[in-house]
Amino acid sequence: MPAPRSRVAVLVSGRGSNMAALIDAAAQPDFPAEIAAVISNRPNAGALAIAERAGVPTAVVDHKAFASREEFDAALDAELRRVAPDIVCFAGFLRLLTPGFIEKWEGRMLNIHPALLPSFKGLDTHARALKTGVKLHGCTVHLVTAEMDAGPIIAQAAVPVLDGDDEDALAARVLAAEHRLYPRALAAWARGEARLVDGRVTTASAADEPPALIWP
Ligand code: GRF
Repeated sequence: MPAPRSRVAVLVSGRGSNMAALIDAAAQPDFPAEIAAVISNRPNAGALAIAERAGVPTAVVDHKAFASREEFDAALDAELRRVAPDIVCFAGFLRLLTPGFIEKWEGRMLNIHPALLPSFKGLDTHARALKTGVKLHGCTVHLVTAEMDAGPIIAQAAVPVLDGDDEDALAARVLAAEHRLYPRALAAWARGEARLVDGRVTTASAADEPPALIWP
């Protein structure tokens, strides 16, 4: 009998290309997770149409309908409890959550950030990478904790920064890496190959995996 697949809820705010990469990966029968729902805080997020076309149930918890962060987070928590996911993947989800919400879901929330953390936390990562002159840039999948972009790192992918890159060119190179990295990191987490030990994520990688810019 095949191993049970982890239930995943994906939180989005925008175009949803990382969400789409997760949905595509989960369509493979041997992928260890299923995308049970996509939840957006924006009713007009492009991600919603992509999810619907893929047959994934969607929900909107519109932050504008709530008077405070606490009320929005309570509604999001209620929606998530309906879905009952094992894992919550943030994929371009542009809301800061209250410590109370984080506490409830901590250890189950993954995020993808478009930089090699701990460099370039926050917004405008590609512009800042170009300005700083780093030669390697990339993306990170990490656990979500109360401190923004500071949770334990599950996986990273690096890409070169090339002479002549502008923000769009660099963003596109990183985004392509995001689409490869996030499904891998989710699979490793869902299988229990990546797990939290003493505040850091350890990964039991396949022995034949060569050292590379993408690791694990
Ligand atoms: C990605 O670059 C992701 O790393 C960041 O927001 C962007 C979302 O893009 N958190 P998309 O909605 O997945 O296309």
